[in-house]
Amino acid sequence: MRHLLDVDDLTAGELAEILTLSRQPEPPAVLAGAGVALIFEKPSNRTRNATEMAVVALGGHPISIRGEEIGLGVRESVADVTRVLAGYHRVVGARVNDHRTLEEMASLDVVPVVNLLSDRSHPCQALADLLTLDEHWGGLKGRTVAWVGDGNNVARSLVHGCARAGTAVRLASPAGHQLDEQSVATAREAGGDVFVTTDPAEAVAGADAVCTDVWVSMGQEAEGGARLAAFEGYQVDEALMDRAAPGAVFLHCLPAHRGQEVSAGVIDGPASLVWRQAANRMHAARGLFLWLAGEQMPASAVRQTRVQ
Ligand code: CP
Ligand code: NVA
Repeated sequence: MRHLLDVDDLTAGELAEILTLSRQPEPPAVLAGAGVALIFEKPSNRTRNATEMAVVALGGHPISIRGEEIGLGVRESVADVTRVLAGYHRVVGARVNDHRTLEEMASLDVVPVVNLLSDRSHPCQALADLLTLDEHWGGLKGRTVAWVGDGNNVARSLVHGCARAGTAVRLASPAGHQLDEQSVATAREAGGDVFVTTDPAEAVAGADAVCTDVWVSMGQEAEGGARLAAFEGYQVDEALMDRAAPGAVFLHCLPAHRGQEVSAGVIDGPASLVWRQAANRMHAARGLFLWLAGEQMPASAVRQTRVQ
């Protein structure tokens, strides 16, 4: 059974296949009559809507569940919740505070588990980011992406995705907020060309795309003040974009904070692909479900058993 907890769960070929499936104009109804459970321990706009609509497009029925509704790990153990949901659903997606929750769910191997964002990674976002850049450039190989900002979940998944797509990455984060060395090492082991600096201008020089993320992620609110101070000087503004390659584009997973990690002029300007990128969350999720279906998702217990 396949799960998607991190982009590094995929080979380069599988990632390319998902991007191809994401563009399939008339996808088969591989989820006809099936449920997909989507658990959210944190807020979501894009991920919930994009994933629900991807399930609908494939003939399935999404059920979004707030973490506190089921009391994941509180009212009931993570393992018990997962086993029960596996009886109703063909896939379980979850947005979790702690990545280990996803690992526990997946370790049961009772239903394919998809990471809808954790403190560690955001693979569904990386799929949409690569889909957006691939559409725009007409190919990912040989291009360079600059990341300016927090070396966190979104950056980690993008770096691992780029490593598999043949896209170089140049990361600029302040000391203490850089992508951990182990994640950089595994990206390089996968063939990635990854350059790390603390200097945004150095990272952006000649890059074909400039990407960023919020400076205060969900769950980090208590450190908000310290984080805003640490990231001073890391705003993607017009002057920084001018250092990138001619025609360079801007990506942001959203939600955005104009005046913090990005200037209004950049995110609302001609280089910005953020609305296409947000829309592509749905197309990439559809591609992911199509791929999982091809990996022989089990029929849920509901479809296997007659009611007596
Ligand atoms: N980019 C993203 O995951 O957005 P949401 O938090 O709104 O789902
Ligand atoms: N790094 C951000 C991404 C939001 C989509 C967070 O974890 O809150």
